[in-house]
Amino acid sequence: MTDLSVANTAKKTAFDVDAIRRDFPILSQQVNGKPLVYLDNGASAQKPVAVLDAMDRYYREMHSNVHRGAHTLGDRATAAFEGARETVRSFLNAESTREIIWTRGTTEAINVVANGLAPRLKAGDEILVSQMEHHANIVPWQMVAERTGAKVVPIQITPEGELDLDSFNSLLNERTRIFAITHVSNALGTVNPVATLIKEAKARGIITLVDGAQAVPHYQPDVQALGCDFYAFSAHKLFGPTGIGVLYGKAQLLEEMPPYQGGGEMIERVSFEGTTWNTLPYKFEAGTPAVAEAVGLGAAIDYVGRLDRRAMEIAEKALLDRANQLVETVPGMEIIGTAKHKAPVMSFKIAGLHPSDIGTLLDQQGIAIRTGHHCAMPLMAFYGVPGTARASFAFYNTLDEVEQLFTALQKIQRLFA
Ligand code: ALA
Repeated sequence: MTDLSVANTAKKTAFDVDAIRRDFPILSQQVNGKPLVYLDNGASAQKPVAVLDAMDRYYREMHSNVHRGAHTLGDRATAAFEGARETVRSFLNAESTREIIWTRGTTEAINVVANGLAPRLKAGDEILVSQMEHHANIVPWQMVAERTGAKVVPIQITPEGELDLDSFNSLLNERTRIFAITHVSNALGTVNPVATLIKEAKARGIITLVDGAQAVPHYQPDVQALGCDFYAFSAHKLFGPTGIGVLYGKAQLLEEMPPYQGGGEMIERVSFEGTTWNTLPYKFEAGTPAVAEAVGLGAAIDYVGRLDRRAMEIAEKALLDRANQLVETVPGMEIIGTAKHKAPVMSFKIAGLHPSDIGTLLDQQGIAIRTGHHCAMPLMAFYGVPGTARASFAFYNTLDEVEQLFTALQKIQRLFA
């Protein structure tokens, strides 16, 4: 039985997904003898030709080291690299490119902040995070807490996977120094009301950080409107290359923070008597940076910027709505994370099946999802599961692919549960 007969009420939009898919060459291939259905975008998204071409062109025509060469290629590379920084600034609506720091990814960005804020922390201070954080927004804080005597305090969540606002409000107190929260939960898809939360925290003088890794593929954050002190994201989830990410930070805080790594580029003057730091943003960018990757990220942001963002959000919502409609066609299937406001992420379990078996069996049918704890063990503990299966959608996915996923899940459930 392939019962996908639940009414398809998904809205048709002007979003031309077929044309968009042609921009992503990797999508039109067979995997295990079946057309690839790529639903692991939360782990890493695919890259449009615009990104591949920009990086190829960079290496063919302008590669050299940046900020160093007294020659034409060095100037071209520097212009492309700093041009990409301006693209990121504009994407986030940051005030200045001084506030845009290149990192290796979200994880490194949060480590830069945790390390940089350490001198402000003392025994008894509290760092507020949530129960739904990715390990990248827990462990760096635990490490700095260990060094300083501060304490990491988790905000509770509701069974639906929403932040418990009573818990948040009751935990804010005069010892709270830092509030670090994910914009969108990687394992649940929950979109947190970050603007409201930040406002509450800022009113008490608390430093705020938003982990935007799972948000930027779906929404365009405005850091000035959000009012956060720090915002971190990775390029590879935003249709750009691996190996590079961004830390936005308010200039005043970045100025006060010690550098994260020492080396070239981040210094003003070095002598054996002492060293002084470079100005922002270079103080946080030791060593030769990921120049081609910065160029690739700039191209990815430009590519997404050319899409109709409203239509994209409607199309992504239609994918999630269709998936939710079809849950009842798979006996024993249960969604983990049913928040009202969700990004297109569906974490689930199926009675009688281990998540990793679901992943392997789907892969045999050409369907890629992620399974496991999603680097969110405290969240899995909250739900009392070792892990989940997770389908995470991007704007290039189709309703047809959602239906293929469910046809496959029905088959797996029938044969193996
Ligand atoms: N953090 C990424 C995910 O959620 C890898 O899959």
